[in-house]
Amino acid sequence: MKVSWVSDESHVPSRVDYGTSTGKYESSATGEHTSYHYFFYSSGKIHHVTIGPLHPATTYYYRCGGYGQEFSFRTPPATFPIEFALVGDLGQTGWTTTTLEHINASNYDVLLLPGDLSYADTQQLLWDSFGRLVEPHASRRPWMVTQGNHEQETFPIIYPNGFKAYNSRWLMPYEESGSKSNLYYSFDVVGTHIIMLGSYADFRANSGQFNWLANDLAKIDRSQTPWVVVIIHAPWYNSNLAHQGEGENMRVAMEEMLYNSGVDLVFAGHVHAYERFTRIYNNNADPCGPIYITIGDGGNKEGLAMRYKEPKPSTSIFREASFGHGRLRIVNNTHAHWSWHRNNDSNAVVSDEIWLQSLSSSPSCNLKIQQKPHLTQPNANDEL
Ligand SMILES: [Fe+2]
Repeated sequence: MKVSWVSDESHVPSRVDYGTSTGKYESSATGEHTSYHYFFYSSGKIHHVTIGPLHPATTYYYRCGGYGQEFSFRTPPATFPIEFALVGDLGQTGWTTTTLEHINASNYDVLLLPGDLSYADTQQLLWDSFGRLVEPHASRRPWMVTQGNHEQETFPIIYPNGFKAYNSRWLMPYEESGSKSNLYYSFDVVGTHIIMLGSYADFRANSGQFNWLANDLAKIDRSQTPWVVVIIHAPWYNSNLAHQGEGENMRVAMEEMLYNSGVDLVFAGHVHAYERFTRIYNNNADPCGPIYITIGDGGNKEGLAMRYKEPKPSTSIFREASFGHGRLRIVNNTHAHWSWHRNNDSNAVVSDEIWLQSLSSSPSCNLKIQQKPHLTQPNANDEL
């Protein structure tokens, strides 16, 4: 687990003390630190410390920099079931607070965020306030994020590549997954391979991201991770009038790879509403394609995207512009439950839900996964 925090004082060591009892820190780990400038803004000292090895499904108590407040978090379990909370386009408004409270009111193991975090949009102090806003939540569970357009913060000539604050503050395990960029990476957690793609990194054929994705998909062992989930920011399928077509170039470049690898689900943000599609490949319903879900209704300052294409495309199963979040509960190798929860309702109320079967457990789709050209290495255990 990587612990990241910011200190005002430069003498604070990049050290995390931790243990399984409150106030007793049997272990400690030292990591790295960075800082950045953005025009006249200078960040604090940004620390990233990886701790472990850790036991699964265990609560750890920890403190940062050798002093101060104690935090605690719980590691994910070692076996199914596992529950992911999903929410995009979070921002830092009253709606954001409501969404976070709603998420926190019901247990989860890992939070997945498909981009648009702080909406700082070059106002760097808003990255600091966003950190303070999410700290009570992000200090308790793994928060795994990918970037949205609001993380770019490019400026001609001075900051042409962008993502300065995002890459400094939200350091994800990209090197561990063979990626050369913090904008795309992957990780495994309890039978699930999760691929975080970068809607704002080059995705064209033979780009760094494209080749990394091909390689990452080829390495998936379905006997270890029967479920494969992909997270992007700009949706590839979207019947809302907002951001129409913005994910289209990436879809054209990468959809075939995901389809051939039997990706189960693709989550996106960007559009400030909820929408669930059926299984799709190349614009048509396809029983072996991923289910596409837009979950960009976290609660940012821009408000909801209320207008939709009419009539509703037959591939769009459920769509609604309300703030909320989603839950993906993977029960076992073959079945998972997806639900969408509006902020306006109690947690017990499910506004949309579906049971899913993993493609690797579907005889006809599994055949296709096995036959794809880049996954032909024999694996005696790979019988799912
Ligand atoms: Fe966005």
